[in-house]
Amino acid sequence: MKIFIDTANLDEIKKYAEYGIVDGVTTNPSLVAKEGDISHEQRIKEICEIIDGPVSAEVLATEYEEMLKEGRMLAGWHENVVVKLPTIRDGLRACKTLSDEGIKVNMTLVFSPSQALFCAKAGATFISPFIGRLDDISEPGMELIEEIVDILSNYDYKAEVLTASVRHPRHVVEAAKIGSDIATIPFDVLDKMFNHPLTDRGLEKFLKDAKKNK
Ligand code: E4P
Repeated sequence: MKIFIDTANLDEIKKYAEYGIVDGVTTNPSLVAKEGDISHEQRIKEICEIIDGPVSAEVLATEYEEMLKEGRMLAGWHENVVVKLPTIRDGLRACKTLSDEGIKVNMTLVFSPSQALFCAKAGATFISPFIGRLDDISEPGMELIEEIVDILSNYDYKAEVLTASVRHPRHVVEAAKIGSDIATIPFDVLDKMFNHPLTDRGLEKFLKDAKKNK
């Protein structure tokens, strides 16, 4: 499974880039806003300098023509930019047009398998179902991933399933078991996935015991 980091923070991206396990980055308007008074363009370009993989940048337009204009502009910032479009009617239309032009599109805010099917047909490169936000309203987010992976496996669409709105390590493990192509993971969840108290305690004891040999 490919791992994307879900942040617009450069320190967070740099930290995990060092380990060589990050294949791409996703941002959204809320994540960019968290970074304070920065230029969207500059931040996306900075991210592209750190990670050599797909970097999703989201359009703010909600109308077809405007989405195309903004999408083409975002795609022009760097060859690795993937244009993120909301899964609304105009977004779906824009997905088809931009994909036909060779621009990679990540369809975001996907909450149903039928939306995902339409995104795949419209030529999306990535489809982002939001599992945490479904869990938040007592809907089983992971079942959505299962259904979408199942549907896409029956056909030959190029779209990859990008599990988004990840809240904890089990989300990632379950998504991997199901066969989601990618999970985009916030920094704190990456830390939780890696850290284990038994590893730390075990190492501490090994090092303490080793001193007895000297
Ligand atoms: C990534 O592409 C999504 O925008 C992000 O995972 C949404 O996460 P949230 O539901 O925690 O805001």
